[in-house]
Amino acid sequence: MTLVLIGFMGAGKTTVGNVLANKTATKQIDLDQCIVDKIGMPISEYFDEHGEEAFRELETTMLKNFLNTSGILSPGGGVILKEENQALLKEQATVVYLQTDLDELLRRIDQDTTNYRPLLHNKTIEEVKDIFLPRIPIYEEIADHIIDTTNKTPEEIADVILELV
Ligand code: S3P
Repeated sequence: MTLVLIGFMGAGKTTVGNVLANKTATKQIDLDQCIVDKIGMPISEYFDEHGEEAFRELETTMLKNFLNTSGILSPGGGVILKEENQALLKEQATVVYLQTDLDELLRRIDQDTTNYRPLLHNKTIEEVKDIFLPRIPIYEEIADHIIDTTNKTPEEIADVILELV
């Protein structure tokens, strides 16, 4: 079964996925990277040209393509928004939710200059909260395991995951 890491932007899905892949000699599939490879442009550009809904359709197609690949799958934080994806993840994957409080997420997102996130561009903290807060119950509902990542290194988080699964 696929191990899927979910959580908000900045939760560390890709970083932890890489550490886990190294520790277990498996591979990590970064779903956003697969999408970028397919569309041949950055996700932010795709959002600008086609809108969020088109991106969500594409994300769903890619999730279905990769869900049954053995290894570690790290999708974008919004993959849980579609009900169809929620059902797929619950039925067909072991799901680990990397839980992080909003202050910590904002700090990490601010420091991450390599990853431009269109949904957060020019947003106030209140607007980011409006995106973040409704997602929390969905992440919690889908997850088989919830890990509080605050004050833990990616290495420590990976070790906790390995004890659980
Ligand atoms: C999104 C998260 C991003 C990316 C897109 C939308 C979201 O991925 O898929 O910008 O809606 O949470 P990360 O969670 O890897 O930043």
